[in-house]
Amino acid sequence: MLSKQDNEMMCRVGTGTPMGTAFRRFWLPALLSEELPHADCDPRRVQLLGEDFVAFRDSEGKVGLLNEYCPHRNASLALGRVEGGGIRCIYHGWKFAIDGTVLETPNVADPKFKDRFKACAYPVREAGGLVWVYLGPKEQQPEFPKWPFFDVPDANRLAVYPVISCNYVQVMEGLIDSSHLSTLHTSPLKTTGGSELDFAKKTSHMQFQAAPRIEAEDTEFGFHYVAIRDVSEPDGERTIARIASFVPPCFVLNPNGDLWFAIVPVSDTRCMFFHVWWDAQKKFGEEPLRSQQLEFVGLDQAALDAYGLSFRTCDTPQAASRDNNFLQDRDAQRRGHFTGLPSFTQEDAAVGMSGGPIRDRSREMLCAADVALPKLYRALLTCARQAMNGQDPLGLHVDTTRIIGVSGPLAAGTHWRSLAPQHKVVPTRISA
Ligand code: FES
Ligand SMILES: [Fe+2]
Repeated sequence: MLSKQDNEMMCRVGTGTPMGTAFRRFWLPALLSEELPHADCDPRRVQLLGEDFVAFRDSEGKVGLLNEYCPHRNASLALGRVEGGGIRCIYHGWKFAIDGTVLETPNVADPKFKDRFKACAYPVREAGGLVWVYLGPKEQQPEFPKWPFFDVPDANRLAVYPVISCNYVQVMEGLIDSSHLSTLHTSPLKTTGGSELDFAKKTSHMQFQAAPRIEAEDTEFGFHYVAIRDVSEPDGERTIARIASFVPPCFVLNPNGDLWFAIVPVSDTRCMFFHVWWDAQKKFGEEPLRSQQLEFVGLDQAALDAYGLSFRTCDTPQAASRDNNFLQDRDAQRRGHFTGLPSFTQEDAAVGMSGGPIRDRSREMLCAADVALPKLYRALLTCARQAMNGQDPLGLHVDTTRIIGVSGPLAAGTHWRSLAPQHKVVPTRISA
């Protein structure tokens, strides 16, 4: 449970808010590299933390991120022409390079005029199939992080994001809540038994125990959390522990070990839910595995568009919303489907969005299964308060290469922490 005041502090991410200030101290994924497929391709409008930007790939293939609105008279540069080493505003033709340098101002006779100012540009890096941006103060730009999927070839990695129309914390809550799996995902989990996909195999045991033992510990980087289930298998009983790790402000390593998430706020009431799968051997990025994986969890383009989980469709009347009861299919339920929703992704999105654009946490009744949630709230509020006080927020200077999500059998008498021995446990954070 959170006071209204703390909830506001945790959820609001606009300019000048405590959590918005914290987010702006980190490198954040903003879009997929493949959304800017080649040099001089069409630019893309990007909204992050309530601010409007334009991303484009210049003639050399380098990506830039500028304020969306032209410095001259604020026409949208998302309408601009990407050509000759920059982006040209279609209104009066001013042209800007990826670093904000003004290359041309054709309606001004004075050739020196363009040297007097710059467009507002932000540092950009590409890694792991994602375009990363840093929106914070120049003098506080942190080192670029290194996540394990940065090193694998493109063919071995699959990056995708649904757009979820609710506050980012509601999406995070689902990622550190193992007990919802055997209820909300009852029907899709039933189909995992026969599937050869790793994701299916790694999650199929979860349908059998609705009340796993849940524990969580604060760590140097944020916190990690475990769900422990006793599972009957043909060769006897086994105990399976699944550990997820949360790194502020928005990164989660899934216990499957090959799946990473970033939940990046577009605004206070919408977020991008980045998923990256990777494997040294498996060609996640190539067919047929790519489509199999996406379709299995409801992340293929057709499924995202149909449910309003893409930028193309999220603002259309057809998008799942309260008005259409999140497109729930009651007939399918009567025929035996538990939720009447298409797949994992849509089930998670529906319950996340159904609590309201920013849900009220002063009225929640947490139970033992929710033990990780107060840790999440505290980690985020710690970040917000640190940023507000001018300190480096929790999660900023951590060695991301040592953080894992992991699952595996637990021998009798062994602590689950032994599955992730490199995580340094710290005393519980009491004051947010
Ligand atoms: S508004 Fe962009 S060049 Fe005038
Ligand atoms: Fe879920």
